[in-house]
Amino acid sequence: MKPGASLMRHYLQFKDLRAEEYAYLFERTRIIKTRFKNYERYQPLVDRTLAMIFEKASTRTRVSFEAGMYQMGGSVVHLTTGDSQLGRAEPIDDSARVISRMVDLVMIRTYEQTKIAAFAAHSRVPVINGLTNEYHPCQILADIYTYIEHRGGIQGKVVAWVGDGNNMANTWLQAAEILGFTVHVSTPGGYEVDPKVAGISRSDCYKVFADPLDACRGADLVTTDVWTSMGYEAENEQRRQAFAKWCVDTAMMAVAKPDALFMHCLPAHRGEEVSAEVIDGPQSVVWDEAENRLHVQKALMEYLLLGRIG
Ligand code: CP
Ligand code: NVA
Repeated sequence: MKPGASLMRHYLQFKDLRAEEYAYLFERTRIIKTRFKNYERYQPLVDRTLAMIFEKASTRTRVSFEAGMYQMGGSVVHLTTGDSQLGRAEPIDDSARVISRMVDLVMIRTYEQTKIAAFAAHSRVPVINGLTNEYHPCQILADIYTYIEHRGGIQGKVVAWVGDGNNMANTWLQAAEILGFTVHVSTPGGYEVDPKVAGISRSDCYKVFADPLDACRGADLVTTDVWTSMGYEAENEQRRQAFAKWCVDTAMMAVAKPDALFMHCLPAHRGEEVSAEVIDGPQSVVWDEAENRLHVQKALMEYLLLGRIG
């Protein structure tokens, strides 16, 4: 942290920031994105280093954090379980103590949330969650920014979640509680969201529907994710059978609002959780959603390292 900077903050869950901080971040994102599109140099993080630790695969998270840090004038160090001592049982607390003495910011993609929480507890620098089994806050940050770009504010809107009660679903629920919208959740039996794991305190930010079509009725945004998340591959066959009805198709989009958007964090499996007609159709904003990972995370890194600008 910069000498004299305010208290260090981590971004481990969506609820680590308040509604007014999100309003600030979305405005910074708009400014940073516009400058980038105009080829204007903006390098507030010269001499700063981001360590990226990946214990699971990634395309979007890796490229967006790495490109974003370079664009802001900083550098990155990329570590995986296989090419570091993390895979050879060095305690996470020790890794955190060492890595955080050498860099300014750490992004981690791992399995249990307890692991990133342990790292953060022993880190001298801010830690960002790049996906855990329980949460994916950077993705929801990008999704909500994308919704705002296309449709204005998300407050009071209805988001339909069709599929697994996973890290994305949990994070949508946290966001609904903080930003004031409702999530219509439909999952197969046995794959429900657990409000305790989701980390929410109010039950009025979501409604559960047995039939995914009912969840989509009147929705402003329909969204889904893979049937099998990373780390759960052994359940693949069982999930394929359980999730067969949870495919976002044109019938589901037809009962949503006429101007409803479709989002998917990607990677997607056409013909499983979403039909090709929907993901490649006119209501889909998945490419904007993916691109916005870059812009929102630049605003997030700027905020965690430099605080409010101006
Ligand atoms: N959506 C997302 O986090 O993608 P990657 O797994 O490619 O990083
Ligand atoms: N729920 C998915 C998201 C991938 C970006 C997973 O955890 O694998």
